Amino acid sequence: MSELFFNFVLLLLILIVFGSMMVASFRTAPWVPSRKKDLRRLIELAEIKKGEVVYELGSGDGRIVLELARRYEAKIIGYEISVIPYLISQIRLWLVNTFFVHRMKGEAKILYRDFFTADFSQADVLVFFLTPYGLKRLEKKFRLEMKRGSRIISYIFPLRIFSPKSISKPTKTSNPIYCYHF
Ligand SMILES: C[S@@+](CC[C@H](N)C(=O)[O-])C[C@H]1O[C@@H](n2cnc3c(N)ncnc32)[C@H](O)[C@@H]1O
Repeated sequence: MSELFFNFVLLLLILIVFGSMMVASFRTAPWVPSRKKDLRRLIELAEIKKGEVVYELGSGDGRIVLELARRYEAKIIGYEISVIPYLISQIRLWLVNTFFVHRMKGEAKILYRDFFTADFSQADVLVFFLTPYGLKRLEKKFRLEMKRGSRIISYIFPLRIFSPKSISKPTKTSNPIYCYHF
């Protein structure tokens, strides 16, 4: 009986972990981390000001959220729905808040939540690394909810219906990063 129960719990856990990753992949993007060497370029392009609110859509293992909070006196909120990257990001966040809090200028928070439920009008900056099919599904929400003066930073893939204010691609082989102003 106890073995049966153990197997059932194990199966349930496997279903939750892989199910959440499949849902994320089909909805907007699978978990593929951005390149560490591109982080600085991405973060500088955002030009975040003191007190601004930044959402990262699909924050993965938290690398961008933590780097933004380290660099800017701003409120950074990550949204993630895949269980494994979410748990990794919470562990990283805990470690940083416990041992390196003095190095952080801003405030970081990571939510286990579908970013389609977020109200983008509350954000000054959106940052993301999502697939073209995910971006296509988000464009209507951007058009309706982004407030005047807000910005979007998109890693690698451009938006279809807006023209970028700037594109960072220092060399032929670098990944492009697109910056949009509203
Ligand atoms: C390409 S990865 C980028 C991860 C991270 N931003 C980085 O640059 O390393 C996209 C992430 O978005 C997450 N994701 C996809 N759809 C989502 C949704 N609707 N709500 C929250 N997270 C989502 C995936 O689980 C995945 O971790």
